[in-house]
Amino acid sequence: MSERIVSADKQKEDIEQIRLRPARLDEYIGQERVKEMMAIFIQAAKNRNEALDHVLLYGPPGLGKTTLANIVANEVGADIKTASGPSIEKSGDLAVLLTDLEPGDILFIDEIHRLPRVVEEVLYPAMEDYVINLIVGKEETSKAIRLDLPPFTLIGATTRYGDLTAPLRDRFGVVHKLEYYDEDALAKICARTAKIYGANIDKQAIGEIAKRSRGTPRIVNRIFRRVRDFADVLNEGEIDLPVTKKALDKLQIDAIGLDSKDRDYLQGLIEGYGGGPVGVESLASSISEEVTTIEDVYEPYLLKLGFIKRTPRGRMATEKAYKHLGKSYQGGLFE
Ligand code: ADE
Repeated sequence: MSERIVSADKQKEDIEQIRLRPARLDEYIGQERVKEMMAIFIQAAKNRNEALDHVLLYGPPGLGKTTLANIVANEVGADIKTASGPSIEKSGDLAVLLTDLEPGDILFIDEIHRLPRVVEEVLYPAMEDYVINLIVGKEETSKAIRLDLPPFTLIGATTRYGDLTAPLRDRFGVVHKLEYYDEDALAKICARTAKIYGANIDKQAIGEIAKRSRGTPRIVNRIFRRVRDFADVLNEGEIDLPVTKKALDKLQIDAIGLDSKDRDYLQGLIEGYGGGPVGVESLASSISEEVTTIEDVYEPYLLKLGFIKRTPRGRMATEKAYKHLGKSYQGGLFE
């Protein structure tokens, strides 16, 4: 099975991402509308000396949801505690996190759509009234206790807005969707990363990396590090267009940023199922990939490119996808 672009050492990559993370809103590139609104809400909360309202950030992976949460904490001058939906298994786990907060602190819950239902129910009054109701002790001796919490801000992040329950969604005062970045923003992010690493990179190389990063800052940074490896070994550290192209070709990232996994998906759909329609489960098993990975990682960008369509009968490849793979398209005849 082919490996998705160089994500082998996840932990090391996370550390590197943290090093590259902007600390302030004005260093954060792109997402102009989100930045503008957040700056206002942060200022208003600070002026009133109140905790910022709860914030929900959603959108495809790698667009900077965690980064933005950390920036918000910096900007309001509060601590941030981080957890993820599936790691909070019991209501007691959530109680520990919440009772540890100081006034104005941020609780960041990544993958918030994966919070267990019982935990979610403890979260409602916490968000609304800063209280939690817990049952402690065993059966006959158990009793309900009510704990007051300091005013805090929950920042939830999810790749799956549609999987959030309505009561949870409704309790966020601020909801932002992060969009894929345009090439200009990606180029700025690449230039910023190169500067932090003290690398020599020219404009054309930056443009090429931006063009092939599927609208995603995390991928800009990943690709940058691999291209720099090639440049260090083959080009005395000079990151120019030829070495960038060579590295990207070796990494099997094509001219529009699709990698071998994206192509497996499209080929599976076109060659295995005549372009669809086909259910995502069948497609997933034919390319040995998890349904959630397909839905959260591959499909959003292929949809944005207009390479696939989601129909009630299943996934379909469009003429654009056929063209990109150099295949002749006949699907339109039968539609
Ligand atoms: N690193 C990851 N996302 C970023 C962004 N939006 N701006 C600057 N650096 C980033």
